[in-house]
Amino acid sequence: MLMTRIAEILRNGQPDTIVTIKGWVRTKREQKSFTFVEVTDGSSMNGLQAVINADLANYETEIKRLSTGASLEVTGKLVPSPGKGQRIEMQAESFTVYGESDPETYPLQKKRHSFEFLRDISHLRSRTNTLSAVFRVRNACSAAIHDFFQERGFLWVHTPILTASDCEGAGEMFTVTRFDLDNLPQQTGKVDYTQDFFGKPTYLTVSGQLEAEIMSMAFSDVYTFGPTFRAENSNTSRHLAEFWMVEPEMAFCDLKGDMDLAESFLKYVFKYVMEKCPDDMEFFNKRIDDSVLDTAENIINNEFARVTYTEAIDLLIKSNKKFEYPVEWGLDMQSEHERYLAEELFKKPTIVTNYPTEIKAFYMRLDDGEKTVSAMDVLAPKIGEIIGGSQREERLDVLERRLKEAHLDPAAYWWYLDLRRYGTVPHAGFGLGFERLVQFMTGMTNIRDVIPFPRTPLNVEF
Ligand code: 4AD
Ligand code: MG
Repeated sequence: MLMTRIAEILRNGQPDTIVTIKGWVRTKREQKSFTFVEVTDGSSMNGLQAVINADLANYETEIKRLSTGASLEVTGKLVPSPGKGQRIEMQAESFTVYGESDPETYPLQKKRHSFEFLRDISHLRSRTNTLSAVFRVRNACSAAIHDFFQERGFLWVHTPILTASDCEGAGEMFTVTRFDLDNLPQQTGKVDYTQDFFGKPTYLTVSGQLEAEIMSMAFSDVYTFGPTFRAENSNTSRHLAEFWMVEPEMAFCDLKGDMDLAESFLKYVFKYVMEKCPDDMEFFNKRIDDSVLDTAENIINNEFARVTYTEAIDLLIKSNKKFEYPVEWGLDMQSEHERYLAEELFKKPTIVTNYPTEIKAFYMRLDDGEKTVSAMDVLAPKIGEIIGGSQREERLDVLERRLKEAHLDPAAYWWYLDLRRYGTVPHAGFGLGFERLVQFMTGMTNIRDVIPFPRTPLNVEF
């Protein structure tokens, strides 16, 4: 196959081979009789250095048009590079400029820009070192996720984005409004927000779990991987209004099997990314957070900590640490508590299980005594909750009772109850916040910087 991607050329390109690259100028250094141009096409951390000699026919007219951000195509011969830090470079034989990039107005200068500044130019920020490394790692994570589940015989199921049920029962849903064709807002000047989806209240999904449960009752092991939405007005570095979730669901599985899956899943994804993106991971370790490589090693090689919620509360109380929020059996854990456990106490991912029934969703399986449910959260150092999951309530009578207690109408969940009526089995699953995983892996502190186009309150530019 013809080598055209710069990552491949940097890795395997042999001297004397002729190649053509297409990309954007990262830097240009003009010398007397030639010009160095570093070209990037996004496939690797480093660009390929092209040496363009002044004796090329179009040199005089075209070289001026090249500056950072300009697009071009270069054909030439690969030669060993005398420069430091690169094995190979290109001696250009011809080059064509596609589009100039005015250095006076191009927002990306050679200096380091703040992430805040870059968020305002999300249409250009993927061209920077950091963001392009993030999105390569994000891509590798996605590939790893599919590989992991496919290798284990899980079926990838596509669950709907439009839904009528609130899976988490937390009332954090966006509603869907239908524009009436006779009453378009362009004509009337106002939007009629009472219009719902053809007469039925409809929302953007907060989780594909309920539909994944349906599919797992036919295919045993399934997973979803897609966008989910939460209408929470939280402006934190770990919340988005639109984020991607990975949700495996397994029939004939209990809480222990769920925890084991979550642990081997995270180990697999970290290992995969370390193998596929070593340069990007080195970069994060050097430039973003110097614990990134240690964290990855730690995840891959050590068992996660596992404690019950009751034990975790005891440990928090015994720590004598001053927390902002109260610690008391029955209260939900805040991120400061989660981070203390994973970051300071256990210093590794920590799985907390068997939370109080009162603070968890209706579908989680009641433990004996009914004070707790078979829930689990995986807490990550520096992030807090990264995975939330549970064994599901598979007993028809118990589930009916739980729905009523949660003030949900069992009639609206007839299909969900049917799964317990016909061939019910113990089953379990979890949801991984995909952006939180990418944060955890790269050390990026703000969730807005690990998704190409973040959606948060007051932040929808296009
Ligand atoms: O804990 P959650 O709410 O669990 C569920 O939705 C279950 N139905 C999943 C399941 O069992 N199939 O969300 C799962 C994960 C969280 O642990 C967190 O990592 C992430 O989704 N998450 C968010 N990520 C970014 N922005 C938000 N607003 C998020 N809300 C949850
Ligand atoms: Mg949760």
